Amino acid sequence: MHSITLIPGDGIGPSIMEAAVKVIEATGVDIQWDERYAGLAAVEKFDSPIPFETLESIRKTRVAFKGPLTTPVGGGFRSVNVALRQEFELYANVRPAVSFEGLQTRFKDVNILMVRENTEGLYSGIEHYIKVDGVAIAAESTAVITRAGSERTVRYAFEYARKHKRKRVTLVHKANILKCTTGLFLEVGKQISKEYPEIEFNDKIIDACAMQMVMDPSVFDVIVTTNLFGDILSDLTSGLVGGLGLTPGANIGKAAAIFEAVHGSAPDIAGKNLANPTAVIMAGVMMLEYIGELDAAKRVDQATKAVIKEGKFVTPDLNKTSTCGTKEMGEEIARRARG
Ligand code: NAI
Repeated sequence: MHSITLIPGDGIGPSIMEAAVKVIEATGVDIQWDERYAGLAAVEKFDSPIPFETLESIRKTRVAFKGPLTTPVGGGFRSVNVALRQEFELYANVRPAVSFEGLQTRFKDVNILMVRENTEGLYSGIEHYIKVDGVAIAAESTAVITRAGSERTVRYAFEYARKHKRKRVTLVHKANILKCTTGLFLEVGKQISKEYPEIEFNDKIIDACAMQMVMDPSVFDVIVTTNLFGDILSDLTSGLVGGLGLTPGANIGKAAAIFEAVHGSAPDIAGKNLANPTAVIMAGVMMLEYIGELDAAKRVDQATKAVIKEGKFVTPDLNKTSTCGTKEMGEEIARRARG
């Protein structure tokens, strides 16, 4: 039996997580879910965005399945996602974007695996205002890039490429301007690439990379990049394969791993049974692979792809004329994944 911490999350979180849990349970895999709060839901209940009990649960189970969490813009509490990644040293954020058959998208053959450094860079949390007479006249933010942090993330990307027989690793940076920080990341990448002679290595500057990605995504295979660039580029790669409702992510560390969607809590569609559960279901596939339940992972993967290919039981983001909701799409995937 596997013990997994389950965090339903905010906004569309509870509905898509309910659908995903049903799909995973349909495979017959023996999982004991330890349901815990985080984010806005936790503030309302415990007056803390990350209650102690939630952290203790993840420390014990070492695996969490998490819905999206709302972070207030500007003031308010700090991002719980960033805090969880730092607390458990989840240094690699792995975000695959793969074309689905049956979807009308600009490109048909996208298969990009993004590995984003997940604990450092501009998300280090070192930020402050400079105030005169109580008025902010400036604001400063510090990006921290360490050799050790860069090494483990770049190495993860190369190890992934080796294990999955991928051809190329592209390191994305801005070392022409941010010479020290992303310069160090690039230097480490060049060094580590020498240990993997069978894998082609190249580097690209973030702006040119973004342009190339929308012109011809087939030139990208595995990408490794710093925190902020990876955050932005993985939304872009989601767009290439059909939108944010489709792409999963895994936050991997030595002590724990947290699986989630790339997207956020989507307050604009929360409570309307409109959210696409695919991204969290595919995060569930990554989680099942991580815990060694390969047969169940394959079944969920195939069931999800078949439902999308048929295009009948899909949410309106995939088919504008569809009247199918989150619940119905999840139920159809669960029906097909049943062991
Ligand atoms: P968002 O990803 O929640 O939504 C962006 C757009 O994509 C919206 O139009 C939304 O309706 C759509 N969308 C997102 N997921 C969808 C799905 N499953 N099915 C159909 N459409 C979907 O980004 P936004 O609005 O910038 O952020 C909302 C909140 O989520 C913020 O508080 C943000 O901090 C948080 N957030 C949390 C993340 C996490 O928990 N890992 C990641 C990104 C944002």
